[in-house]
Amino acid sequence: MASLLCAVPRTTGSLYSILSSPFFKKPTRKLKPFFATSIPQTNRKCSNGVAVSIAEERETVRSPQLVASEYADLNLSDKFSEELGHVRIRQHVNPLRASLSEPAPVPDWCDIYSDSTLPLMVDIGSGSGRFLMWLAKRNLDSMNYLGLEIRQKLVKRANYWANELALSNIHFIFANATVSFKQLVSTYPGPLTLVSILCPDPHFKKKYHKRRVVQQPLVESIVDSLIPGGRVFVQSDVLEVALDMRNKFDTISDELLHVDKINPSLLDDEGWLLSNPMGIRTEREIHAEFEGAKIYRRVYQKRK
Ligand SMILES: C[S@@+](CC[C@H](N)C(=O)[O-])C[C@H]1O[C@@H](n2cnc3c(N)ncnc32)[C@H](O)[C@@H]1O
Repeated sequence: MASLLCAVPRTTGSLYSILSSPFFKKPTRKLKPFFATSIPQTNRKCSNGVAVSIAEERETVRSPQLVASEYADLNLSDKFSEELGHVRIRQHVNPLRASLSEPAPVPDWCDIYSDSTLPLMVDIGSGSGRFLMWLAKRNLDSMNYLGLEIRQKLVKRANYWANELALSNIHFIFANATVSFKQLVSTYPGPLTLVSILCPDPHFKKKYHKRRVVQQPLVESIVDSLIPGGRVFVQSDVLEVALDMRNKFDTISDELLHVDKINPSLLDDEGWLLSNPMGIRTEREIHAEFEGAKIYRRVYQKRK
């Protein structure tokens, strides 16, 4: 499968073997905003391979429908809502609340994964979990997935769905990542090969920037916990948030290498990755692109 999941081998090879990874394949196209002033009548290929006319998509499809179709093969049921009540989701949670300052309990990894020695990908702020489930389904025997999410109902539903899909390589934990990440991943028996932070809550007002999930201590914990050659993938549809993450990860350039040092042609003129390297868009990404937003992405690799 052409995705980044197999991109970080358990053994460390040459730094430049990254170039041959499907994860870093030179993109063949640049996605255009859906709401360009003149709407091109060309077809666009979704990450699930379905060709759609952009103009048609804009007129007849709403963004929740796009999410549903992009994740159609997960075939997730509505049973959770039927059995446990409608999942009403608060817009934002304040991660600085006292009740969220305790680290999440560390699970018994052997109970959670059928093979807890497999390489691990952690998605911070995993939202509904569909993105991670899509990946887990495609990499059943080669990778484990862990979603950290601060909204408990989303976590309950995601674990319910994972169970329904009989996925034994994925788990979601109700956790404030800024206080729980380090302890959780340090107890995981296998190597941490990939961490993603995708479209984190923007907390626009300056006085709330401290609520953003990407703070320097978390960045340092991520870098410390990754195996050499392990990767970090961050993205946002909000330029200011993307720049904030970029500045924080760029600061530790003695330990992290950005992909432009390996292959500059993967980036646009401003240093953002030209395309989504995962083979699947996150829900926020789908909504944002539908609205015409650009997604600002960076990928780093821990030095070997
Ligand atoms: C805008 S949503 C994006 C969800 C998903 N990554 C996507 O791209 O569709 C941000 C998610 O991060 C979660 N979140 C915010 N702060 C967090 C924290 N400190 N720890 C864990 N999750 C957090 C939010 O609850 C929310 O589900």
